[in-house]
Amino acid sequence: MTYYIGVDIGTSGTKTVLFDKTGNVIASALQEYPLYQPQNGYAEQRPEDWLEATVSTIAQVMAKSSVEAAQVKGVGLSGQMHGLVMLDEQDTVIRPAIIWCDQRTAKECEEITQKVGAERLIQITANPALTGFTASKILWVRNHEPENFARCTKILLPKDYVRYMLTGAFATEVSDASGMQLLDVPDRCWSDEVLEKLEIPKSMLAKVYESPDITGYITAAMAARTGLAEGTPVVGGAGDNAAAAVGTGVVENGKAFTTIGTSGVVFAHSDEIAIDPKGRVHTFCCAVPGAWHIMGVTQAAGLSLKWFRDNFCAAEKETAAAMGKDPYFLMDQEVEQVPIGAGKLLYLPYLMGERTPHLDPQVRGAFVGLSAVHGKKEMLRAVMEGVAFSLNDCKNIIQEMGIPVDDMMACGGGGTSPLWRQMLADLYRCPVKTVASKEGPALGVAILAMVGTGAYPSVAEACRAIIRTDKTQQPIPENSDRYAPFYDLYTKLYPAMKDSFKELQEI
Ligand code: XUL
Repeated sequence: MTYYIGVDIGTSGTKTVLFDKTGNVIASALQEYPLYQPQNGYAEQRPEDWLEATVSTIAQVMAKSSVEAAQVKGVGLSGQMHGLVMLDEQDTVIRPAIIWCDQRTAKECEEITQKVGAERLIQITANPALTGFTASKILWVRNHEPENFARCTKILLPKDYVRYMLTGAFATEVSDASGMQLLDVPDRCWSDEVLEKLEIPKSMLAKVYESPDITGYITAAMAARTGLAEGTPVVGGAGDNAAAAVGTGVVENGKAFTTIGTSGVVFAHSDEIAIDPKGRVHTFCCAVPGAWHIMGVTQAAGLSLKWFRDNFCAAEKETAAAMGKDPYFLMDQEVEQVPIGAGKLLYLPYLMGERTPHLDPQVRGAFVGLSAVHGKKEMLRAVMEGVAFSLNDCKNIIQEMGIPVDDMMACGGGGTSPLWRQMLADLYRCPVKTVASKEGPALGVAILAMVGTGAYPSVAEACRAIIRTDKTQQPIPENSDRYAPFYDLYTKLYPAMKDSFKELQEI
């Protein structure tokens, strides 16, 4: 029997899963780490934490299973996208990584648009200049910390830093590289034009591979620390969303998924490149060689519910611990007691600014319509509905672009909630399915490792053999009609309030 490891370097923690060739989970391990927010709108993590968590979780899955090191035929890496890791000549991390949800780079986005030209930027990188993407973070360091920029010799994405440490290979792959705003997305290679205009030396960037390609091999030092064999191949892998697509079988035209993790994403596969001229959704290379995906992003999806849990649900946490249950399970039960519309309470999930559809780093969250009759459970329902409204915005734009999104899967932590999935089915007015495996990105990159090391001939064929669908939430037309006026009003709130948010940030 042969085995494969998928590592998912997320925002709240790193999860490593050991699979057999048919996608069965043999062992898994999770290690959490902190997110640092030194200022409102800033978000940083320590790359060393990602590496330690990866090494330790691989060692744990190897120790927990009876699988021999030599039976592990490949490793796939997935991770949070867009983060900026800078290394000096000695490969030392220069400063904490500025990660995907950081919003400090509005000025640098203007600089990028001015230097490359708005239209040309969208033609080459398939996206307008965005605060979340890596290029603006690089410029921010150059503008604000010139001494750090001067020391920098290598720029890496989160999972690619971990790859470099595990294998010594300075490599990335197209799906994650698409989120740097330095890749020529139609041609799947670094854009000399963008690099020259932004004065970023190409030598600082890693070699670009397709996602299933072998990029390097586990070194002797890392073999000793992880329990893997020296020389185990590590494939390109994928950014977390492209990886989740493989892990849910969204690898062919017509298929889409919604994930609710820290961020929320609506993702649709496309064999042809399609770009929203307004830049409200992203177009990236996907993990299937030669194909792309379109995706809309809600910055604070699961993060909204986690924020509410951590600040206001101490009682639920305590009861859940005593019952041996997850606090989210009890929170769902409370929300079920509240009718659609949360007693006329709306929530805007813009805790970390917003991407789709507003592209606004300065907007912030809000409860609208609060009344003395509302309590915690109404607020909780409003949070879940507000996130679902925002995901519905993403789905509507993708549909407007002519990409079919009615074969919809749900995944991520939030996707395990039947209540949230029902909200999505009702709002989308289409069935929302789940897959039997809950391992999304980790399974996705393990499948890429299987394909890259020859266990399956293609990503689509591997998915057909491995991915099984599970429960489906059918839309309930009566619910859809009840959500409609609330969603309609929700879409009017941002235009009405955006100037106030800007003013608030400027005080
Ligand atoms: C995608 C994005 C997030 C991160 C974090 O563009 O920023 O989904 O990858 O998971």
